[in-house]
Amino acid sequence: MSVLVGNDDPFAVARTVKILIERESNTPIYLQIRDRVKHLIQSGAMQPGEQLPSIRSLAETIHVNKLTVIEAYGMLEADGLIQARQGSGYFVSHVSANSPNLESTFAPAQAVVIPEQPCGTFCKLYTTLLQARQKPGVIDFGVGYPHPPEDLARIARRAMADIGESLFNYDFPQGQHLLRKQIAQILVQLGLDASPEDLIVTTGSQQGMSMLLQHYVRPGDWVVVESPTYAGFLALLENAGARVIGIPMTAEGMNLDLLEQYLQSHRPRLIYTISTLHNPTGITTPQSHRKRLLELAEQYECPILEDNAYEGLSFEAIPPPIKALDRNGWVTYLGTFSKTLMPGLRVGYMVTNQHNRSILKDQKLLHDLSSSTVSQAIVSEYLASGHYRRHVTHLRNTYEQRRNSMLQALERYFPEEASWTVPKGGLFLWVQLPDGLSVQPVCRDAIAQNVVVADGAIFFPGQQGYPAMRLSFLHSPEDIEHGVKVLGNLLKRSLMSDRNRSHTKAVACSMKGLPSLTATD
Ligand SMILES: Cc1ncc(COP(=O)(O)O)c(C=O)c1O
Repeated sequence: MSVLVGNDDPFAVARTVKILIERESNTPIYLQIRDRVKHLIQSGAMQPGEQLPSIRSLAETIHVNKLTVIEAYGMLEADGLIQARQGSGYFVSHVSANSPNLESTFAPAQAVVIPEQPCGTFCKLYTTLLQARQKPGVIDFGVGYPHPPEDLARIARRAMADIGESLFNYDFPQGQHLLRKQIAQILVQLGLDASPEDLIVTTGSQQGMSMLLQHYVRPGDWVVVESPTYAGFLALLENAGARVIGIPMTAEGMNLDLLEQYLQSHRPRLIYTISTLHNPTGITTPQSHRKRLLELAEQYECPILEDNAYEGLSFEAIPPPIKALDRNGWVTYLGTFSKTLMPGLRVGYMVTNQHNRSILKDQKLLHDLSSSTVSQAIVSEYLASGHYRRHVTHLRNTYEQRRNSMLQALERYFPEEASWTVPKGGLFLWVQLPDGLSVQPVCRDAIAQNVVVADGAIFFPGQQGYPAMRLSFLHSPEDIEHGVKVLGNLLKRSLMSDRNRSHTKAVACSMKGLPSLTATD
């Protein structure tokens, strides 16, 4: 239904605005109102200072409860897009220090990375982070999993009520049929037409990666990754004895011109990509990028491993996965419930292709016979209860507001030389720091002040990249404010002492009549 709210409405704004409501849609009406008004503001169709329709008039015109409009306006207000003026109604906010800048400024100058040596730090670092977050009162910006759903314990008890044969016994390696059917339905909504027979339930998507590496890669083979990329996959590559080609990330995904050069020259055995809400940058690649990446993979006969762990957490409509374009069986897709439900359940899944399906089922059996029947039953019950969709919608809305809180805090406290991505979903954003800055001591000093952060170095092959940090934004606005302030102060202090050092060096050199050196020499 399309409803026009405008001059014909005595309570409406001076200009005509169109609020489109689709009653058949799965998106709740309050979110449709929020999204529509947000679009009107961000596209410039509604100007700063302009009045919004009153709650009463909008509710009457589009035939919804006033509470629905109040909820939508409340979210727009929390995002800083509109402001309430007592007795006068709601108005579009003027751009101010409080409005998050929604533009990414991600443009790193970076070469292709081919590390000489494996670095072997992932396992140590992972354990250190797990230990650091045990400390009470810690603000953990390194965290990469969601808040637990409130109703999960009740649903888990329901799933466990009857320990029948299918729960008690060893399972088929491919996983429980009902769960695979439910996953296939989720994938269809993403535009990926998968059947339960195409799917293997895995013990987390980490196991899927490990199985695929075993299938495609032998020691000494080249594998392409985005640079930076998920540190857990780099560690698996190291373990498999693979050689790594790190193709720099641009704002649209990995640099495809460089990829083509390396496909020609090195003939890699696998391309690993996180096309949606990339870890660590948060970037989602556009459809054109997905199409060209698949074309290149087909042309140079190099399979793709598409690992979209954060796919469910997008704030906006996203293009279907690369796997949805794959007619000839070049892509294997990995998904997981770790980022939307609970990492401890260890339930992930793999969409195989016609070439690797049967061998990967055997591989799964060799890895662990099957994934836990108990975990599968809990996920399945949760999906069947209808709570999953509501829970994920709630996560997306909460995290969008928290991303905005973090963008505002970064503007306030981080040094002006820093820049960051503005992810359209997921759990974290990526901060690029000035060249020459040592991130490790800053992370160490932050832990001493109860703030944990992921040093960007771990996401680069061979840890060879530019200074950066990955920050999770799923904390309360107060914790974000405090934690970002602590980090910002430490970064500014570090930059200041670098500048002082190079100044002292320059003065010392000029006194001796020597040419001065810059901080990065
Ligand atoms: C991109 C990516 N893939 C996979 C995983 C591992 O997920 P799972 O818990 O399903 O093994 C992570 C975890 O952080 C991740 O970031």
